[in-house]
Amino acid sequence: MIGQKKLEIFCGTGGVGKTTLATSRAVALAVKGHKVLLITIDPAKRLKEILKLSEDQAGMVETISSKTHLNMEGDFTFDALLMSPRETFKRIGGENVIDNPILKVLTRPNGGMNEILALVEVDYHLSQNNYETVILDTPPGKHFIDFLESSKNIKLFFKKIYLDIFNHLKSGKKQRKLFTALISTGIKKLLDLLDKVTGAHFVTEFIETIGIVYSNKEAFIKALEIQETLKTRELSNWFLVTSVDHKKISEAGDIREKAKSFLHEDTFFVINRSWSPYLAQWHPKEANLAKIRGTLWNREREIMDFAEKNYINILQFGEIFSLLPEDQVCQLAKGW
Ligand SMILES: Nc1ncnc2c1ncn2[C@@H]1O[C@H](COP(=O)(O)OP(=O)(O)OP(=O)(O)O)[C@@H](O)[C@H]1O
Ligand SMILES: [Mg+2]
Repeated sequence: MIGQKKLEIFCGTGGVGKTTLATSRAVALAVKGHKVLLITIDPAKRLKEILKLSEDQAGMVETISSKTHLNMEGDFTFDALLMSPRETFKRIGGENVIDNPILKVLTRPNGGMNEILALVEVDYHLSQNNYETVILDTPPGKHFIDFLESSKNIKLFFKKIYLDIFNHLKSGKKQRKLFTALISTGIKKLLDLLDKVTGAHFVTEFIETIGIVYSNKEAFIKALEIQETLKTRELSNWFLVTSVDHKKISEAGDIREKAKSFLHEDTFFVINRSWSPYLAQWHPKEANLAKIRGTLWNREREIMDFAEKNYINILQFGEIFSLLPEDQVCQLAKGW
C-alpha cells in the first residue's frame, strides 16, 4: 500500500488515464476513511463526465457520494473540484477583477493562467487544512512541469524593479494617469502606437491587467511555494502515468527528464491498461492466437523493461473491459 500524502500529483501525456486513475485513487483513499479533495484541471472535463458534475458547479467543491455519484457499494464520500481559473482568481482578487476584459480571456480554461491558478487553488486548500490529501489531476503533457520549472520567470515579473512603478499604479485614484506620467516618452510613443493598432482601450486595459495581477502578487508567490511540497518526499507522491496501448514510452521518459528536479523517491511509474494479468492466464493453442498473444506480451515487456531500468516504484493497472467510467473507476480503485 502506498502511503497517503498531503499532496498527490498525476501527470503524463494525453489520454493515458490520468483523470480516471486520479479518481480511482480518491475513491481508494475515501474507502479507507481518509478525507480527500480531488482537483482536476483537465480541459476535456472528463471528471465531470465520470462523476456527473454539473457545469455550473465549476470552481466549487462538490461532495461525491459512493451511492449517488458512483453507484458503488459501501458508504463513503470525497470532495471534487473542477478547476475554474476564473473562480480562483475571483477568490483572491475579488469579484470585480473579472470585469477586466484581458483577464476574462486569460482566465478562460486554457487561457494561459491555468497552471499558476491551479497552484493558487491547491495552495488555498492545503493551507485550509480541511483535507488529509489533495489529489491533483493535471492536463496532458509536459506543460505543467515546464510551468513549475519556469516559475522563476514569475518571480522575476514581481521583482523589485517593477515595484515602484506598480506602487504608483496602485496609489491614488488617478492610477493610470500617474502611470503614464511615469513612463518615458519612448515607451509612451510605443503605447500610443499600440493603442492605434489594437484599438481603443487596449493599452489602458493592459496596464490595468498588470496592476491587478501585481496587486495579487502575494497569492501567486505563495502558491509557488508548493514546489517545495512537491519536492519533499514526506509531503507528496508523484504518479507518472503511461498507458500500454499508447506506447508512449519515450514521452514518459521526456516527462521524467523535465520533472527531474521535483521527483523524489516516492515517484511511481504507473503502467495503465495493462494486458499482462490477462495474458498470463491465456495460453491459446491455435497458431494465430498464439501470435497475437506473443505480440501483446512483447509490447508490454518493452514498457516494463523501460520502467525497470528507470524507476524503482512501478505500478500496474489492468485494462478494464467496460466503457462505463464508473465501472473503470470502481475496478481500478481496488488496485491501489
Ligand atoms: N484501465 C483502463 N481500462 C480501460 N479504459 C481506460 C483505463 N484507463 C483509462 N481508460 C479510458 O481511456 C480514456 C482516457 O482516460 P482519461 O481521460 O482518464 O485519460 P487522461 O490521461 O486524463 O486524458 P487527458 O490527457 O485528455 O486528460 C478514457 O476513455 C478512459 O475511459
Ligand atoms: Mg484528464
